[in-house]
Amino acid sequence: MFGDVKVSPSILSADFMNLERDIRMLEEGGADFVHVDVMDGHFVPNLTIGVPLVKQLKKITKLPLDVHLMISNPLEQLSWYLDAGADIVTAHIEALDDEACVREFIDRVRKAGARPALTLKPDCDVETLHPFIADVDMVLVMSVFPGFSGQSYIEGSEDRVGIISSWARELNPGLMIEVDGGIGVSRTAGLVCAQGADVLVAGSGVFAADDPISAIAAIREAGTKAQPRC
Ligand code: DX5
Ligand code: ZN
Repeated sequence: MFGDVKVSPSILSADFMNLERDIRMLEEGGADFVHVDVMDGHFVPNLTIGVPLVKQLKKITKLPLDVHLMISNPLEQLSWYLDAGADIVTAHIEALDDEACVREFIDRVRKAGARPALTLKPDCDVETLHPFIADVDMVLVMSVFPGFSGQSYIEGSEDRVGIISSWARELNPGLMIEVDGGIGVSRTAGLVCAQGADVLVAGSGVFAADDPISAIAAIREAGTKAQPRC
């Protein structure tokens, strides 16, 4: 769990008319992943990126694609995203009908050679993740209601990170804990990393910064400094 915090800039805040330029900027800034927010206008109100763009991204960058599926029935479309080259695939547990569906999601992602991750909306009981902690590579803690970038961090989200982190110590010490929503260098990056987060998604925190390239390093540094050391 220790080591430098990873930064996964969300391209939802990128300039879509200049997306390749923005991806090069993330590479230059040392981003660890590219966070791709897939929204279907049903599971969440907004409609964003889909399979064709994931395919194109895969062609132009070697950065791992961290694909956050905010869609209903993720099992229906899962193979499309795996074939398109998603490296980490995160599904919302509340979009999967039952435990068997969650297990199927994890197995299919792994069999495709990608890394399975689970998340849930801020008002869903975090305990629903517990049975799967040992079996996933990452848990994503949503610190805003999914749907839009640029929202304010929901205070107290760090407590959910702390709960997952304590489970991970016992059940899956290599688990990555990612936080998504309202993460910025001045306060929230440190707040969540102090509770055990080690992957930070940042949309506006990177792309709305005066200097996005140095913002990536600054977010990483703020998070890494705050990490618990024992
Ligand atoms: C929200 C998305 C986030 C969002 C983050 O539904 O999952 O990834 O783009 O944007 P910021 O960092 O601006 O809150
Ligand atoms: Zn996201």
